[in-house]
Amino acid sequence: MDATEWDTRYRLAREAQAGQAGRLWSALPAQIVQDTVSPFPPGRALDLATGDGRNAIWLAGHGWTVTAVDFSAEAVGLAEAHAAEAGVSVDWQVGDATTWDPSGESFDLVTVMYLHLPEPALRAVLARAAGWLSPGGHLVALGHDQTNLATGAPGPGDPAILYSPELLRSCIDPASPGASRVVRCETIRRDLATDPEAPGDGGAATFALDTLLVVEV
Ligand SMILES: C[S@@+](CC[C@H](N)C(=O)[O-])C[C@H]1O[C@@H](n2cnc3c(N)ncnc32)[C@H](O)[C@@H]1O
Repeated sequence: MDATEWDTRYRLAREAQAGQAGRLWSALPAQIVQDTVSPFPPGRALDLATGDGRNAIWLAGHGWTVTAVDFSAEAVGLAEAHAAEAGVSVDWQVGDATTWDPSGESFDLVTVMYLHLPEPALRAVLARAAGWLSPGGHLVALGHDQTNLATGAPGPGDPAILYSPELLRSCIDPASPGASRVVRCETIRRDLATDPEAPGDGGAATFALDTLLVVEV
């Protein structure tokens, strides 16, 4: 989906929830993201493809100084409204994750959640993101696993844009400048009742399968 199509999805969510800021996704990050990030000392964070901002807002609420980027201006507008409601400050930017550049800044944490792109673009995004980490910093990526298709759980239906541990691991070059180290890369099970990607997710499915990548430099 391009930025215009995402804009339409976010605009419809806003219009359907008249009187509220509008929300396409759950209010909190996936539990595995909260559990993974919580032990890290807060510093500078970047949330790429932030959507309506749940990861960025949670990070800002936990002491991180956050920059958040999405190519949908509608999504960023909703994220700004949610951040105001939550009383947190985030540097929101409209930008394309495949070309956005932090202008020389580095980060202690980069999060990339449910950004599903064709493989060459995903490889480039994750490799660039790992390259923006400060020494000791982490890249945390999470998205729908290819095996999620068999669960009946929500998520993209095109296997070409789904993740696998093999794919995500191969996006990180251990010989890159800064020597990125994969500390975790696996398929994880997410309980849809307690940890939905979007409100009301699930239908007949009770769990979803995601791929988690955690990289340290
Ligand atoms: C499934 S949503 C996930 C949003 C958010 N990361 C979350 O977990 O709630 C995917 C998001 O990626 C954004 N996106 C897709 N391709 C993008 C790109 N090339 N650059 C920036 N954002 C992109 C969409 O606008 C959408 O907000």
